[in-house]
Amino acid sequence: MMVSDKISSEQAINLEEKYGAHNYHPLPVVLNKGKGVYVWDVDGKRYYDFLSAYSAVNQGHCHPKITEALQNQASILTLTSRAFYNDVLGKYEEYVTSYFGFDKVLPMNTGAEAVETAIKLCRKYAYEKKGIEENKAEIIVCENNFHGRTTTIISFSNDSDARENFGPFTAGFIKIEYNNLEVLENTLKSSSNIAGFLVEPIQGEAGVYVPSEGYLLKAKALCEKYNVLFIADEVQTGIARTGQLLAVDHENVKPDILILGKALSGGVYPVSAVFANNEIMNVIKPGQHGSTFGGNPLACAVAIAALEVVKDEELAENAEKLGNLFRSELQKIIDTNNLIQSVRGKGLLNAIVINDTEDSSTAWDICLKLRDNGLLAKPTHGNIIRFAPPLVMNVEELLDCVSIIKKTIEEF
Ligand SMILES: Cc1ncc(COP(=O)(O)O)c(C=O)c1O
Repeated sequence: MMVSDKISSEQAINLEEKYGAHNYHPLPVVLNKGKGVYVWDVDGKRYYDFLSAYSAVNQGHCHPKITEALQNQASILTLTSRAFYNDVLGKYEEYVTSYFGFDKVLPMNTGAEAVETAIKLCRKYAYEKKGIEENKAEIIVCENNFHGRTTTIISFSNDSDARENFGPFTAGFIKIEYNNLEVLENTLKSSSNIAGFLVEPIQGEAGVYVPSEGYLLKAKALCEKYNVLFIADEVQTGIARTGQLLAVDHENVKPDILILGKALSGGVYPVSAVFANNEIMNVIKPGQHGSTFGGNPLACAVAIAALEVVKDEELAENAEKLGNLFRSELQKIIDTNNLIQSVRGKGLLNAIVINDTEDSSTAWDICLKLRDNGLLAKPTHGNIIRFAPPLVMNVEELLDCVSIIKKTIEEF
């Protein structure tokens, strides 16, 4: 069968079922086209994308400026590996470090790889600059975190599906309650081997948990007080999603290490990055970390275009405006219907909590009805549905989506 051969939804699903590992449970809809805020299924039915590939497609599907950069670079040079220099990586590094305000960037591909990179960087800095005894460094993480799927990352997850039968796990992590400054300070105080605090500014995967106002700022101050690196995982929250370029910008926090992925390429190509200033990043020397594809010219060209789109189209401002509108419109639905318990979020990273038990199938069933009514979203953890449309949406489209959600909830 050729990639260009037309197949039905049923055929596509059956092929994945038979030949692919069953490591996902997709909503039954088979897509073959995307443009801006819309995706289409193989029968030509159009949907609003209300997930944006877990916040990777912030710039909208197939943004012409990004796909043009991809096509141009793809026909010139795609991969050299870092065995040689290429003429795009340096330009990208200069552009992206000035964009996010750091001395240096370490380019990787996926979010999980960037998190791994940040962990290694944090540990190395702790041994070589802070004088922590070898193999004793500890990193504080939060309960219900999601930072990816590698063996080290799942070592500090508390999601049993993510962990079961994947041990033995990597040591050196202390898990504490999210959004609890007292516990953070007590933990920082408890040992001189603490190297870093790794945190999501909003816990996306866990169900869009927004911490109390001031949490990030105070957590950063505590890290400074105890000389511990503050590591922000903005793979999901970064790049305009929450109404600022970074979610930490809401509290004017500058992380010591910043992790980005997903929307760094507008969802066009896997691009991730770790940022830090010289004092930290310079502990990494040749041969100590890397990736064949990290920093390849195709990724760099795509990422520059994707970041230009974010600025040119004022996506952070749009996310802020539409997010406020979305939550106030959803609140009106909640006021008249008790199927939804609450709505929460920041910018265009939002979630609704369904009034049912966590193990019920209600959220999934609502997502099936939303799909029938032309909007694609997915439950994240039981009775929570995440809503994260592309940031290129306009007010009219957003209100149309609100009416689809309203109709779905009323019919349910
Ligand atoms: C906060 C956070 N970190 C890391 C990751 C992992 O990214 P990837 O799936 O690209 O490895 C995710 C993915 O959802 C994420 O939300």
